Amino acid sequence: MWFQLLFLCFIIIQTDGHRVQENADSDPKASDDAPRIVSPSGSFLGSWMETRRGRRFEAYRGIRYAEPAVGEFRFQPPKLIHHYEDEVDASKEGPACPLPATKVEIDEDCLRINVYTPRSNTTNLLPVIFYIHAGGFYVMTGRSDLAGPHYLLDRDIVLVTINYRLATLGFISTGDAFAPGNNGMKDQVAALRWVQKNIKSFGGDPGLVTITGCSAGSRSVMLHMVSPMSKGLFHRGISMSGSATSKAPVPHHQFHLAQKQAILLNCSHTNTSEEIIACLKSKPYRDLGYSLKGFFDHFNSDPVGLWTAVVEPDFGQERFLTMDPADAIREGKKHSVPYIISQTRNEFFWKALYVVKNESLLKTMNEEWERIAPVSFMLPPGNSSAAVRRLKETYLGDRKLVNDEATADGLGKLYGDAITGFPVHRMANLMCRYSTEKVYYAEFDYIGNHSHYEDPDTKKPIGVAHHDDLIYLFTLSYRFPTIEVSDSDDSQMVDKMIAIWYNFAKYGDPNPHNSKIPELSTLDWPAMTPIDRKYLQLGEHFTVREKLFEDRFQVWEELYPLQY
Ligand SMILES: *[C@@H]1O[C@H](CO)[C@@H](O)[C@H](O)[C@H]1NC(C)=O
Ligand SMILES: *[C@@H]1O[C@H](CO)[C@@H](O)[C@H](O)[C@H]1NC(C)=O
Ligand SMILES: *[C@@H]1O[C@H](CO)[C@@H](O)[C@H](O)[C@H]1NC(C)=O
Ligand SMILES: *[C@@H]1O[C@H](CO)[C@@H](O)[C@H](O)[C@H]1NC(C)=O
Ligand SMILES: *[C@@H]1O[C@H](CO)[C@@H](O)[C@H](O)[C@H]1NC(C)=O
Ligand SMILES: *[C@@H]1O[C@H](CO)[C@@H](O)[C@H](O)[C@H]1NC(C)=O
Repeated sequence: MWFQLLFLCFIIIQTDGHRVQENADSDPKASDDAPRIVSPSGSFLGSWMETRRGRRFEAYRGIRYAEPAVGEFRFQPPKLIHHYEDEVDASKEGPACPLPATKVEIDEDCLRINVYTPRSNTTNLLPVIFYIHAGGFYVMTGRSDLAGPHYLLDRDIVLVTINYRLATLGFISTGDAFAPGNNGMKDQVAALRWVQKNIKSFGGDPGLVTITGCSAGSRSVMLHMVSPMSKGLFHRGISMSGSATSKAPVPHHQFHLAQKQAILLNCSHTNTSEEIIACLKSKPYRDLGYSLKGFFDHFNSDPVGLWTAVVEPDFGQERFLTMDPADAIREGKKHSVPYIISQTRNEFFWKALYVVKNESLLKTMNEEWERIAPVSFMLPPGNSSAAVRRLKETYLGDRKLVNDEATADGLGKLYGDAITGFPVHRMANLMCRYSTEKVYYAEFDYIGNHSHYEDPDTKKPIGVAHHDDLIYLFTLSYRFPTIEVSDSDDSQMVDKMIAIWYNFAKYGDPNPHNSKIPELSTLDWPAMTPIDRKYLQLGEHFTVREKLFEDRFQVWEELYPLQY
């Protein structure tokens, strides 16, 4: 099971220390010509890196943007750093936030920002792409081995990646003043504020910031659009495979997760928030990070999602979220910006393969569907027995689950739609109705040489999995080889994806504005409207289609109705 959790979380535990392309770290002479930047907050020593097309650019990595949230500041909102006394050594990777990794440095002092800029190669201020990493709010990091700049920096943009606090350290919420919640989201806001203050010195335009993210990062992008704290900090958004508008409203607390954390760490008193927080403050951060797997002891390492942003009750604190996102969108209490929303063709289909290929899991799921389905498919709390029957009927024809293709297909779609597909559908449909700016919807539908799920026997991709779009936007050296420049389809996909991001970051519209971007010469991507609901299928070719997977989402609309 732990093995599957690794898969599931895309955890970096197996990172083999594979080096990313970089020059300055190992070369003793490099420091002579190491780049430096002075910003309103301080001065920074960087390093040189090179893109896949051989362009040299400056990298400033591991910069603390907020005071270390350690000791008495654990579980407190971040404190933005306004002034750096000494020159900041930003020439190396910073640590990841606490999570169960053995081969990557972790530290609770992890609120770091990375800036990559081709400024020495350009004259104008460049669009800024701010990337919020995936990982369910409980794993991964913005480090360059998990979000490498080597593709995007072939375009004239400034790329910013960040860490934010994860799991209990970032998202504990007890529903009272002890832990109102959302600290990981407030970290992201602090990083966006850091960008506003400093990015001009790095060659970036603070008036042209595109927030982007995948999965938990995608949910984050959406949440910033309705957060009073994020107003004015960004100008476009890209959300891939994740949404905060799901089957039920966002909760006001997750006390059960706080209590579970305290129990996992053997706290002797776990009845009240005060006891839980006091105990958890006394525990080493490594224990908090390593206890993650204890949260996934349910069937098939489910559920994929645990921590969420919450609607914060008002205790006089600065609140990240003051109302349910779906209500905020409908009531116009949001910051409308041009928005690209997407999901992949098969998302979490592979979760089903673990079940159908394992006799004991198959037997358990058949016998205990009513107990398992609400957790595995992340259904809202309450009586779900009618819902789980209906879902079984719709996706599995009410048949017994067996090891065959029909079961794998139905169960795979159910996992994917429950976790990602339907929430993203809901977000796109709300946004295209209520946003005052254009919404572009897409299905990522390309299978290349690699995937986040590869068949264990053939080692080849068999679907378009959750996160697979990232393969063509970032180098992911912890897991995949760099896609070298060639005429291969994968290489062309990299060129197309970064062209779309660049064009959108610059103009707020993915469609070509001039002939300078040949990769997009055939692109004609209409904005989504409530009537025809067009989207772009991003495969080997670009194809405009309409009503993405709507036949499958009908059952969810009926089970969890919402007025669009
Ligand atoms: C930018 O980089 C390219 C390729 O590395 C080089 O040919 C060009 O001269 C550079 N331009 C400037 C303004 O430095
Ligand atoms: C909690 O207690 C159990 C049983 O004594 C022990 O195996 C485990 O290592 C403890 N966990 C922590 C994080 O201290
Ligand atoms: C904590 O809650 C449990 C179960 O509700 C109860 O038995 C116990 O007495 C409580 N402990 C304290 C210290 O309140
Ligand atoms: C099947 O699932 C069981 C229960 O989770 C697990 O212990 C076992 O290792 C799995 N078997 C295989 C072959 O993966
Ligand atoms: C749960 O819902 C089902 C179907 O709507 C109903 O038959 C059942 O009585 C409900 N159970 C409880 C405990 O409310
Ligand atoms: C996969 O990689 C091989 C070897 O690098 C290359 O020849 C082939 O074109 C690649 N396939 C795709 C779809 O890019």
